[in-house]
Amino acid sequence: MKYIDIGGSGLRGSAVTLGCMRIDQLSEGEVAGLIGAATDAGITMFDHADIYGGGRCEEVFGAALARTTTRREDIVVQTKCGIRPGFFDFSADHLRASVEGSLRRLRTDYVDLLLLHRPDTLMEPDEVAAAFDELVTAGKVRHVGVSNQNPAQLELLRARVRQPLIANQLQFGLAHTALVDSGLNVNTGFEGGVVRDGGALEYCRLQGITIQPWSVLQHGHIAGTFLGNPDFRELNEELAALGAEYGATPAAVAVAWILRHPARMQPVVGTTKPARVAELARAADIELSRETWYALYRAAGNRLP
Ligand SMILES: NC(=O)c1ccc[n+]([C@@H]2O[C@H](COP(=O)([O-])OP(=O)(O)OC[C@H]3O[C@@H](n4cnc5c(N)ncnc54)[C@H](OP(=O)(O)O)[C@@H]3O)[C@@H](O)[C@H]2O)c1
Repeated sequence: MKYIDIGGSGLRGSAVTLGCMRIDQLSEGEVAGLIGAATDAGITMFDHADIYGGGRCEEVFGAALARTTTRREDIVVQTKCGIRPGFFDFSADHLRASVEGSLRRLRTDYVDLLLLHRPDTLMEPDEVAAAFDELVTAGKVRHVGVSNQNPAQLELLRARVRQPLIANQLQFGLAHTALVDSGLNVNTGFEGGVVRDGGALEYCRLQGITIQPWSVLQHGHIAGTFLGNPDFRELNEELAALGAEYGATPAAVAVAWILRHPARMQPVVGTTKPARVAELARAADIELSRETWYALYRAAGNRLP
């Protein structure tokens, strides 16, 4: 496993992070097994949100961690807040209450990184700043960041928030390439030339903000995995061939494709299977060439101008 300095903050996280959005169906024992498989493979960072499984994901993780020999201080736990049933809420009261709930469910005194989950257009940046000040001063939150935000939204927050925003979680993977499409198709009439995120990739690179790609093996909006999906035949053939070459699974090659980008992104994988966690961690050992990176991009159905 490789490790990165997230957003240049000094917070060290594994290059591959384990997302916990789907663990609500697992027992405490199964989650303990998943945590063990992750840490054995060098994955020391875990992604949560207050809403995952209606709180059950954080709860079962907290209970399971207590059963393992893994010490809280040896892992990095991040969670997200700001999505409520039917609306988004970055009010100071909600941010405070959400963190209290997450800490209780996770059975911890602090989260290493707190992300604002999805932009709230009714946000008052000063309220976010006040809540962050309180939470960081109290030691309940060590670092802050965002998720699904474009550069202008980040700028708006950065004008008021006193802590550095160290991460931006965005959907990115071989079957969801919007982050790179617009940069590759600048000033063309092709579909890929449409800027959907305001240039988030280039902005985050310039500002040293770590991009954490989510749903890396999914197509559409978490519509299912492209692995083994007949709609992605060429991509699956390429991934299988490369997997055979590297002695890794096609899924690991798909994650290595993300790690190959010089933006030094930190993919969040969402499997609930210990064996798959170990396989995916292998992605950090695979170095794809420039030619292979582009070949996979094209095999996923993308065209270059
Ligand atoms: N910030 C945001 O807005 C946002 C949105 C969505 C997700 N996230 C984060 O991103 C994380 C990952 O999202 P995701 O779960 O959609 O990611 P993913 O890794 O793309 O998908 C995981 C799903 O694919 C399945 N899968 C099928 N074949 C697989 C294989 N060979 N290897 C691995 N998985 C395979 C898994 O099933 P098995 O469990 O059976 O392996 C699981 O259901 C979430 O846990 C969450 O932390 C963030």
